[in-house]
Amino acid sequence: MKSLLLSLLFAATGLARAAAPAASPIYGVTLPEGYRQWQFIAPAHETAPLDELRVVVGNPVAMAAIEKNQLPFPDGTVLVKLAWKHVQSAESPPAYVPGKATTVQVMVKDSRKYAATGGWGFGRFIDGKPADEAQHQTCWGCHQALVKNHDFVFTRLAP
Ligand code: HEC
Repeated sequence: MKSLLLSLLFAATGLARAAAPAASPIYGVTLPEGYRQWQFIAPAHETAPLDELRVVVGNPVAMAAIEKNQLPFPDGTVLVKLAWKHVQSAESPPAYVPGKATTVQVMVKDSRKYAATGGWGFGRFIDGKPADEAQHQTCWGCHQALVKNHDFVFTRLAP
């Protein structure tokens, strides 16, 4: 009886682990639920060699802060950047449209948990799985160096 209970317990914890979304190394950031329905902040275009189209969206906390021009962003802010290879439209060659999805990147504001990195936790996901630790070591360095004066966030609301 006892061993049956134990094996049930193991099975249950195994299931819980399988169901839990995978978290990014260093920061433990996961892909937020429902981000495809979030509000649009701005697009971006990355030239060669990446050749990507990107769209940054924000959760309701992010959007409220942007509306008020509130900086730093409050705790609970989540920003997501979706990216695709750009491909020439088959129907209209001068147009470039989204091709294969490349990465989904996430920034989560929690000023206590992420005090060492400006209050931001970072996650980069490829096919829904977190990228490796080496990639996550690059995030803070670039955001810190280039956008200190904008709470380490590049994207502004598109006019
Ligand atoms: C070499 C510089 C650089 C590095 C390294 C970098 N980023 Fe960024 N990041 C940018 C730029 C520039 C943008 C603005 C949008 C764009 O051009 O794609 C951006 C935008 C973002 C955004 C949207 C919010 C914002 O700041 O505009 C998120 C989320 C993000 N990056 C996450 C990450 C994560 C996660 C990593 C590490 C895995 C990372 N970034 C590494 C330069 C960088």
